[in-house]
Amino acid sequence: MSAGHLVIESLTVKFPVQGKGTLTAVDDVSLALAPGEILGLVGESGCGKSTLARAVVGLERPAQGRILLDGDDLTQLKGSRRRQLRRRVQLVFQDPESSLSPRLTIGQTLQEPLQIMGMSDRVARAARAAELLEMVGLPSHFASRSPGALSGGQRQRVGIARALASEPDVLVCDEPVSALDVSVRAQIMNVLLDLRADLGVGCLFIAHDLGLVHQACDRIAVMYLGSIVEIGPSDALYRAPEHPYSTALLSAVPVADPDLERSRSRVILTGEVASPIDLPSGCRFRTRCPIGQQRCADDAPSLRPAGAGSAACHFPGQMRVELAQQTATG
Ligand SMILES: Nc1ncnc2c1ncn2[C@@H]1O[C@H](COP(=O)(O)OP(=O)(O)OP(=O)(O)O)[C@@H](O)[C@H]1O
Ligand SMILES: [Mg+2]
Repeated sequence: MSAGHLVIESLTVKFPVQGKGTLTAVDDVSLALAPGEILGLVGESGCGKSTLARAVVGLERPAQGRILLDGDDLTQLKGSRRRQLRRRVQLVFQDPESSLSPRLTIGQTLQEPLQIMGMSDRVARAARAAELLEMVGLPSHFASRSPGALSGGQRQRVGIARALASEPDVLVCDEPVSALDVSVRAQIMNVLLDLRADLGVGCLFIAHDLGLVHQACDRIAVMYLGSIVEIGPSDALYRAPEHPYSTALLSAVPVADPDLERSRSRVILTGEVASPIDLPSGCRFRTRCPIGQQRCADDAPSLRPAGAGSAACHFPGQMRVELAQQTATG
């Protein structure tokens, strides 16, 4: 039985930049997704989340590294075996508006991948399309509608249904809810949680909304300038971030309790984000780090066990402790 164990090993993706050399969008990233696990990936714009996602589904060719699905390296496979295995890791796009063809009905959109997979019987395809709609909580009569007649949340459900057509083990969701209203985000998240419960589908879930990621994901990975700076169980990372960058990200998340909100200190990051074309020596966060020291310029920290997870910092937890002291002294 296949299980859907996805291992990303030392993945590096580079882009040539005219006249400027090479941009390293993803730099030596290693991540593992257990079967059925929902792993959140967060980090600010341009840190390489989409590039990582695209590399995982085969849309970007890595300069280095392996992507293993149940032990098979997806980057090395050829021909029909490649197609067969690639189907088991599917991308869900951010913007269902532009990823669904307005010329096709929802049913046609869902039947397209089925046809490509060799399901030639029209009746069987229609039945399967209806089933896919049901899996994402939409009535089967939506098959006859055009994307324009659907709400944003409904369109994203169709986007997920389309990704499910090939019976994947893993969905790579690149900000699937960012374009949606806050009220709809949790509903889509619940669809993913249901799919995990019913089908065992795992998910690499890319998002900006840390509150949502915290509630729905088993673990969270924090990315900065192409590399993972912290990874750990959602609750632990949310409550007690080890890396100063995670601490800063979390300090910007609004808290529902107004008293708590008033008493919290925000970390305001100053300094420039280093360029992915010309990465600094040592720690790449040091140009903005409030607790950086000489050692951080001399010596790049690697991911090491810290708290309940791992962090790439010479002084794990220190920023959080300083912030708590600031809050306590007002
Ligand atoms: N095809 C490309 N050619 C050159 N540079 C690229 C290309 N795609 C991405 N980049 C660069 O790679 C880096 C990572 O981009 P990426 O889109 O992966 O970031 P992201 O984390 O998904 O950002 P966002 O949150 O805005 O979606 C950025 O510096 C970006 O400019
Ligand atoms: Mg992106």
